[in-house]
Amino acid sequence: MPPMVCFGWSSSDGLVTQEHIRHYEARAQGGTGLIIIEALSVKPEGRLANTQLGIWSDGHIEGLKAIVQRCHDHGAVVIAQLNHAGLKTPNNVSKDTLSPFEYRKGNTSARTMALEEIHRIKEDFILSAERIHEAGLDGVEIHGAHGYLLSQFASSLVNKREDGYGGSISARMRLACEIVKGIRSRIGDHCIISYRMGGNEPSLDDGVEIGKTLEACGVDILHVSAGFSDDTTPPVPDGFPYSWIAYCGIEIRKNVNIPVIVVNGIRTPKQASYLLDNNLADFAAVGRGLLTDSEWANKARSGQDVNPCLECRRCQWFENGNKCPAVLVVFDN
Ligand SMILES: Cc1cc2nc3c(=O)[nH]c(=O)nc-3n(C[C@H](O)[C@H](O)[C@H](O)COP(=O)(O)O)c2cc1C
Repeated sequence: MPPMVCFGWSSSDGLVTQEHIRHYEARAQGGTGLIIIEALSVKPEGRLANTQLGIWSDGHIEGLKAIVQRCHDHGAVVIAQLNHAGLKTPNNVSKDTLSPFEYRKGNTSARTMALEEIHRIKEDFILSAERIHEAGLDGVEIHGAHGYLLSQFASSLVNKREDGYGGSISARMRLACEIVKGIRSRIGDHCIISYRMGGNEPSLDDGVEIGKTLEACGVDILHVSAGFSDDTTPPVPDGFPYSWIAYCGIEIRKNVNIPVIVVNGIRTPKQASYLLDNNLADFAAVGRGLLTDSEWANKARSGQDVNPCLECRRCQWFENGNKCPAVLVVFDN
């Protein structure tokens, strides 16, 4: 299960609710092997929405403990995603929006981060990982995709710094690698470190280099999704049966020796099995499929049909999961 924010369930304190606990427990009970809990914000001023779950204080540990205990009871491995939205922080969260380099486009603007701010945010990620560990989770996933702060650092479209955190790919990945190494040195080898990276950051060739850089700095798992801009999608061979994002994951996996999670548009057990059986992926992540059917994995094992995502133009879960028409179908039955 890839990370998916459950919008509309928390409040501005960013605390886990009973709905979150039930939601994740149901997916663990449904046979999901690895659950990546939704993006948790490492800083209140870096939230992607003002009701996003937080991990910026020790007060957030208790709620996560409740989720992980219930999921472990059903045998799932549980990690949580850490995020800072950077220039994608909405105005109603913070008026002082940060970016690796000054950014202005349409209604979005952000100022260049000072070096001390970079060091502070590195520490925020590491402290947040320590809280995750304290809560009893099996590890963390660092969110370095989808145009959020670490994706902005990775992308030459945004990061024009000239001070060692910008320039070459290894410099653009320096903050990410410092976070990974910091987590490893404070928590040790018992913490799984997954990194969600952009496969097109901005090109697939960059994605391959980013994957190799992350492997070299000690990441355990790469989770390949989209980068900063959807305008820079790589060409996909004719007849390729998955999305361009899944294509990036498959291609990057050929260039690294650590496990890779392939994601995006995988709806049916057959689609997931094909990736695994043909050595194209180490993990097949099923996002919206698991929102609409918590029993997805058990059904896949026993050969039953899953309750399909209805492919709404804009997924209702971005507003409130309780409005998802496919989930309503399940309840009505
Ligand atoms: C409601 C919703 C919330 C999401 N929240 C996150 C998130 O917190 N972090 C993240 O990296 N991706 C997030 N995503 C992206 C998913 O992890 C996944 O990559 C995407 O849904 C594509 O996979 P799918 O086709 O199996 O749904 C979200 C997607 C949805 C639909």
